[in-house]
Amino acid sequence: MNIERLAPVVHSLRPSNHPYLNGAWTPLFEEVNATGLDVIEGQIPHDIDGVYLRNTENQIHQPLGRFHPFDGDGMIHQIDFRAGSASYRNRFVRTRCFAAEQEAGSSLWGGLADPVQLSLRPGFGAHGALKDSSSTDIVVHAGRALSTFYQCGEAYRLDPETLEQDGVAGWVPLDGISAHAKSDERSGELLFFNCSKHPPYLHLGVVDRHNRLLRYSPVPLPGPRLPHDMAFTENYAILNDMPLFWDGELLKRNIHAVRQYEGLPSRFALVPRRTDAPVRWFEAAPTYVLHWANAYEDGDEVVLDGYFQESPMPQPQRDAPPGFEHMMAYLDAHSFRSKLHRWRFNLKDGTTKEQHLDDRVLEFGMINQRFAGRRYNYVYSATLRPGWFLFDGFVKSNVETGESWTWRAGPGRTVSEAPFAPRLGSTAEDDGYLVSFVTDENSSTSECILLDAARIEEGPVCRIALPHKLCSGTHACWADRAYIRNGVA
Ligand SMILES: [Fe+2]
Repeated sequence: MNIERLAPVVHSLRPSNHPYLNGAWTPLFEEVNATGLDVIEGQIPHDIDGVYLRNTENQIHQPLGRFHPFDGDGMIHQIDFRAGSASYRNRFVRTRCFAAEQEAGSSLWGGLADPVQLSLRPGFGAHGALKDSSSTDIVVHAGRALSTFYQCGEAYRLDPETLEQDGVAGWVPLDGISAHAKSDERSGELLFFNCSKHPPYLHLGVVDRHNRLLRYSPVPLPGPRLPHDMAFTENYAILNDMPLFWDGELLKRNIHAVRQYEGLPSRFALVPRRTDAPVRWFEAAPTYVLHWANAYEDGDEVVLDGYFQESPMPQPQRDAPPGFEHMMAYLDAHSFRSKLHRWRFNLKDGTTKEQHLDDRVLEFGMINQRFAGRRYNYVYSATLRPGWFLFDGFVKSNVETGESWTWRAGPGRTVSEAPFAPRLGSTAEDDGYLVSFVTDENSSTSECILLDAARIEEGPVCRIALPHKLCSGTHACWADRAYIRNGVA
């Protein structure tokens, strides 16, 4: 393996016993380019051509207050597959806040778990005082990677092959954009939403394949809400208004405390993508949903699959380190119990039908992006280590037949979100690979694995050594080189 190390960044984080600054969540400070990666097992396939991009939350400065893992600085890790070889590189996202803290040599913003008064500078996004660390999500659109922040931030563009940075996307509105903008690879469009603390509280945006803002439309809500993800079908964008949001009275004192509002339903907005027809709202059982898997139109119905939380306000985790009981419960899918779930919205009579598709705790669903917004069979969810925000395996589900297949990474090993990389020339939905980064606590190393998506239970078909141990994080994507070059799949 050939490793080129870049000039070091300024970091000031000191050792601590914080559960999300140690182990698989130990931040990484170095930036490298690596070629000639060592293959540990199997062979790098010749029949994929593209990049896997993963965003990690990678704190580099000593926190001003109580660190929450979602506060970490964004670092993009990329592995590039072409012609049976692979290269790796990683970069911090050069956000305005990152640059300011590099200059200061220390933290300038408090975090999600801190009072807003702790921040030394005004912050960004829906919350209002946070650092826009662009550390949540990453998608590819119009030939560029776009990293985003869950509390709505500026959205930063990077070259998906070189990770050279273009800075803030020019079309981003003043209220920023949320994580989970969606690339519709068939049209080349990017659909995004944002939320804020002032009316109309929610907007939908569409950017075309040439990176021009086509639309920015209000979708008015009764008050500030905390949607995290969106979905789309061929003709609709699907936004949501869940009964779990900041306490209105406390918010008047600039205190951001989430509560569940008993008696309110979950609400779903079907926003026509290509006409000015009115938004259709549907009601469903109360819950909170972090992530959707896919959606599609089925005659008079719109089908939406995602992860229904049975207990969105979990009890504090009793065996957590002192002081972390509340934070760790909210980061633990086994505490909030997220289950793969299907909603069916009937456009004729306005009713909703819904049911669990699986009773296991799952989250972070990936699909073959060529099937986004259309009828599909397969979702690849992550399994989660009980008590932790760490992924320890994958479940492939056939959402039509109910069949499923499981693969686990093994003791001390955690994985990253595993998007689907289609085999060149493939047409079958599961003809391709799941790509993931494994961090092994037993050996303090990381590797990239490829699973044959048609047979995930058989384990990796290829394991590739990475030059350093990665910090854990949240979201990842795959982009075919043809999609990067052409802007459409
Ligand atoms: Fe997310």
